[in-house]
Amino acid sequence: MGKPVALTGIKPTGTPHIGNYFGAIKPALELANDYDARYFIADYHALNTMKEPKELKRLTFEIAATWLAFGLNPESTLFYRQSRVPQTFELTTFLSAFTPKGFMNRAHAYKAVVAQNTQEERDLDDGVNMGLYTYPILMAADILLFDTDLVPVGKDQKQHIEIAADIAQTINYHYQKEILRVPKPLIQESTELILGLDGRKMSKSYQNVIPLFATSKNLRKTIMKIVTNSQAVEEPKNPEGCTIFTLFKLFSNKIEQDELKERYLAGGMGWGHAKEALFEKMDQFLSPFREKYNQFIQDPSYIEKNLIEGEKKARDIAEKTMTKIRTIAGFY
Ligand code: ADP
Ligand code: TRP
Repeated sequence: MGKPVALTGIKPTGTPHIGNYFGAIKPALELANDYDARYFIADYHALNTMKEPKELKRLTFEIAATWLAFGLNPESTLFYRQSRVPQTFELTTFLSAFTPKGFMNRAHAYKAVVAQNTQEERDLDDGVNMGLYTYPILMAADILLFDTDLVPVGKDQKQHIEIAADIAQTINYHYQKEILRVPKPLIQESTELILGLDGRKMSKSYQNVIPLFATSKNLRKTIMKIVTNSQAVEEPKNPEGCTIFTLFKLFSNKIEQDELKERYLAGGMGWGHAKEALFEKMDQFLSPFREKYNQFIQDPSYIEKNLIEGEKKARDIAEKTMTKIRTIAGFY
């Protein structure tokens, strides 16, 4: 028996942010020693919303440089672009034949657009392409193609992994054989939902993100934009539920947290001071990674070389899965 498999993907749809780091990248890299790790760039998923070729390419390299900056080792971790593993798209077609349409109707991302359209009295399917509608099937293919046991992600992805597990079980039951491994999500409670500048989930789609690799100056400017209430400097403030304090906890130890908590409760601390404290901790944590990121992003041929090597190995693994499936399904 080999090691269990951990797999996750990130879409190149925007600049990587601290929600991506705590929700997916950090837990994924922590698994890399004990698991057979397979981490990829979900560029075909990105195509649903990102259709500008140059931008897609630029963001793909940004995501790749991010993984490398935080320590992904391409020698021991399979590292690839989804688009370079064509078996993914064959598996998507195969899975589609076993996926009830109702699963797609219930998927959160699609439902959110329909809800918005309803509210704004537009046609229900306005702005919905088939890529968005069948998004969970492509994601199931990413996962099932690589014999995945565990998928480190943020909470927003939980439903997608449940759908992948359901599809795998349906297929195993149909053929009365364990041909697809049934995956489980890994969602850490403390980092399952990182808050953005406006107190909602940090997300590229809400434009409320704190980028991982902004310059110190821009990081500071971004942090100063965190939305707060209008309490005056002298008023005591409640750290619980405060976006600034919640973010501060991610970058500090218990003693530092208690210190800031006291300053909140004592009064005399303005929001600007709390933001300054957050900026200092965040900047201190991020600056060594920022340096590495800047080195990698300036060396696209190094990134390309590593991806291409990973993609060769990824296709070999994928082809084994597809051969098994084609055989059992009666295509061979
Ligand atoms: P976004 O929502 O900004 O478009 P992605 O969908 O590309 O981000 O997410 C990539 C990974 O990062 C996923 O595993 C997702 O769950 C995780 N993630 C994104 N935003 C957050 C967040 N605010 N908190 C925790 N995890 C997050
Ligand atoms: N849907 C994920 C997101 O929006 C990205 C993704 C695509 C993914 N395929 C995956 C994550 C497979 C985990 C496993 O963040």
